[in-house]
Amino acid sequence: MPPESPLVIPAQAVQPLEFKRIQSLTYQMAGIDLRDGKEALVGARLNKRIRELGLKDVSSYLSVVEADRTGLELAALIDALTTNFTSFLREPQHFEFLRSVILPEMADGASLRIWSAGCATGEEPYSILFHLVQALGERRVGEVEILASDISTRALTAAEAGVYPAARMRELPEEWRKRFFQRGVGTQEGMVRVRREWRSRIRFQRINLMEDLASLPRFHVIFCRNVMIYFNKATQQKLVRRFATQLESGGWLLIGHSEGLMGMEHELSYVMPATYRKPMNRRG
Ligand SMILES: C[S@@+](CC[C@H](N)C(=O)[O-])C[C@H]1O[C@@H](n2cnc3c(N)ncnc32)[C@H](O)[C@@H]1O
Repeated sequence: MPPESPLVIPAQAVQPLEFKRIQSLTYQMAGIDLRDGKEALVGARLNKRIRELGLKDVSSYLSVVEADRTGLELAALIDALTTNFTSFLREPQHFEFLRSVILPEMADGASLRIWSAGCATGEEPYSILFHLVQALGERRVGEVEILASDISTRALTAAEAGVYPAARMRELPEEWRKRFFQRGVGTQEGMVRVRREWRSRIRFQRINLMEDLASLPRFHVIFCRNVMIYFNKATQQKLVRRFATQLESGGWLLIGHSEGLMGMEHELSYVMPATYRKPMNRRG
């Protein structure tokens, strides 16, 4: 007898009206500009979540998202539609700039607040922290505040756990592997974890960048890299202006190298690709 073929559940097709509803939801709630033509991709990505919740179609799923006041189901929807791709030391020019230009300007003993906005699974804020430890020493780093945020609760949970496949250590210098990570044993074989003493130096918080940022402190450096790619120009411009308000005088905004602020009106000065600065002595 031939083996039974596996049960294949067909992907939920997204109908044009449902796609419009998804576009409007993700735009209103997260600023995400979902372009036409992505219906098949979106259907494939939402399918898993629809099955997990035992729902019958995309339409019922969207009603669940709209009715959920906690915002968690919206976060799951955003998770399905965005990528949390990141890596340690991604776009290394910024870390070199942090070490050679930004940190030397900071007076000893002065406060230093750094925000990794859209930190995904944490490689960016950990890369920032490890550079600070090397450049400033452990004692001074104790006084630095690092905030790491993302809209995705799934990504943030991973960031806070700080567990990565050991193969990812190839991206890092030998000295860092020993100092900042511990090897997993038993069921964690093949994984590494950022040591607790370093994980505890970063504050992880769920922040939707479309929401009010006024409760946050002002920062000396904001990393917001490879996040604005999801937003349209108008939303990007509004966000850049809000980041400018959130920066200390003379503070820095670092964006992804494939992003740019060309044609946008804002008060930041261009320093070099993907690097902007708020003028000194002006408060937004
Ligand atoms: C490609 S990752 C970038 C990670 C890291 N900054 C880097 O450059 O490697 C983009 C992140 O932006 C987050 N994101 C998208 N829309 C957001 C929003 N409205 N508020 C906060 N985070 C958002 C996604 O959840 C995702 O983790």
